[in-house]
Parts: sequence; structure tokens; C-alpha cells
Amino acid sequence: MKLSIENVGKCYRGKVWALRRFSLELKSGVLGLLGPNGAGKTTLMSILATITRATEGKVTWNDTDLATNPNTLRTVLGYLPQDFGVYPNLNTQEFLEYLAAVKGLDATAARRRIDQLLNLVNLADVRSRPLGGFSGGMKQRVGIAQALLNDPQLLIVDEPTAGLDPEERVRFRNLLSELSGERIVILSTHIVSDVEATATDIALISNGALVAHAAPEDLLRRVEGRVWEWVVPSADLNAVKQCYRISNTARRSDGVHVRVLTEEPPAGAQPVAPTLEDAYLDSLSIYRAGATA
Ligand SMILES: Nc1ncnc2c1ncn2[C@@H]1O[C@H](COP(=O)(O)OP(=O)(O)OP(=O)(O)O)[C@@H](O)[C@H]1O
Ligand SMILES: [Mg+2]
Repeated sequence: MKLSIENVGKCYRGKVWALRRFSLELKSGVLGLLGPNGAGKTTLMSILATITRATEGKVTWNDTDLATNPNTLRTVLGYLPQDFGVYPNLNTQEFLEYLAAVKGLDATAARRRIDQLLNLVNLADVRSRPLGGFSGGMKQRVGIAQALLNDPQLLIVDEPTAGLDPEERVRFRNLLSELSGERIVILSTHIVSDVEATATDIALISNGALVAHAAPEDLLRRVEGRVWEWVVPSADLNAVKQCYRISNTARRSDGVHVRVLTEEPPAGAQPVAPTLEDAYLDSLSIYRAGATA
């Protein structure tokens, strides 16, 4: 199984380039697509899900061009769009049965699969309640279940954890680890911790361009020895912010714990082990500095 993205560009209304010369080749595993708001994540995913046409370049699934043969992928695709909507008058069971029928799944097999999925996303107890009364996080879980109905080979989920509470977030992460294996999963987010534990690969995207594509441990290696932490009085925080690339600040009783990305150790600072968030911020700021130079 192979998904190949070759020099893809997308221009909206002849003026906004949301993606530019984007290339990536994926084999089975979980790809965390990380990038700030407006980076082009949704645009890329909707092209891969065959609901948006690329302006330039091509995407192939097992060497079949999606522009001319989108159905080869559609039958094995699971997609949770960022703006996923439900039919408010149907309950969860009915909604999933409806979508299973639309996808052409056998009714008996679908019912069995729906039972499993409702347990997986923790909605078995509320399967008979109309979706109109569901909270945002509950609807999101219905969205995750519908994307899995056909046991997809390519699973694309766009900001799946948005609106989930911390407990459900963790549950979703675990679910994702269970799902990976012989399939390609692409998950977009701007929250690094969503993919830290599950992604086999990370693609960083900014301003429509691929900034980095590497295994999480490779990204961590790039910032090793460049992350420092020390405590400053609150009054000095602004001055520190002027001088350093800040990765994090945390107010504690003894002052503000500042975490920075820099080659030279600041006076009194201790080296600390990098996190993926450090690596993300570092790659983005290096990319932006290069883009504006
Ligand atoms: N239908 C559209 N028409 C015009 N411009 C669009 C359209 N959809 C997206 N864009 C623009 O394309 C760029 C990329 O948007 P996209 O939604 O792909 O980013 P994103 O990374 O998914 O952002 P977010 O994290 O906010 O979901 C943005 O500048 C956006 O304004
Ligand atoms: Mg988006």
C-alpha cells in the first residue's frame, strides 16, 4: 500500500496558494500532519480524500492516479472532515447504519461492525439518543466511528481531537495505536501532544509547504543540546522574551520557569531533554526565518 503525493499545488479562486510543490510518499503507519492554522492541512487532506482537485501535481494510490481514477481509493478510504456534520434527527445507531448502507456495506456485517465501533468510541450507552442533543465531543466520536465503518486502508482524520475532553483525548490516542498496522493513517492537528505517542512519522507544514518529514526521534535529535531552562523573576520575563526563542513559560512559586531554544546556554540555564513541541517550534521558526530572508 502506497500513497504518493507529487509536487501538489492548490490555488483557490486563482489567487490563494494553499499548497505549493508538496511532495510526500507514505507507506503503512501513522502520519502526524502538524502545522499552524491556515497552513494547508485541510486542503491537503481533502485532496487526498478526492473531494478537492489539485491545481498542480498528482496524487497516486498504489500507482493509480486519483485525478482519473478516484474510486480505487474511495472504496478503501475512511475520512473524518474537519467540519463533520451529523443528521440531528437520527440516533447514533441509525446514523451509522445509514452511512454503512451508503458505503455499500452488507447490513448484517455493518450491524456487527457498528456494535464494535460504538464500544471503541465509548458511545454504546447513548446509541439510541438523537444526535441533535449530542455535545461537540460526542459528535466528534460519532465522526471517528463513521470513518472506520469500512475498516479503511487509508484513514484520514482532520483535527479529530478538537473538542474532546482530556480523558477522551487519551482514549482516542490509544484507539489510534490499536488501529495502526496494515493501513495508512493521516491525522492533522496543531497540538503536538496529540501525535507525540502515536505517530510513526511527522510531517510539518507551514504556509502550504512541507517544512520537515521525519520520524519523531529524528526531529528530537535536531534540537538536542539546544533546549535550556531556568527560572527568572516575573519582572524579567519580557526582557528574556526579547532575547530568546521561547518554547514554554510556566509560573511557579519561585518565579517563571522559562524554556528556550538557543545554541549558546543562557547564564544559569540548565540543558533539558527536548520534546517534540520544542522540535516543532524550532523547525517552524527556522523555516519562517528562511522564508522571510
Ligand atoms: N475554499 C477556500 N477558498 C479560498 N481560500 C481557502 C479555501 N479553503 C482554504 N483556503 C485558504 O487556504 C489556506 C489553507 O487553509 P487550510 O484550511 O487548508 O489550512 P489548515 O492548515 O487546515 O488550517 P486550520 O488549522 O485552521 O484548520 C488558508 O490561507 C485558507 O484561508
Ligand atoms: Mg484545517
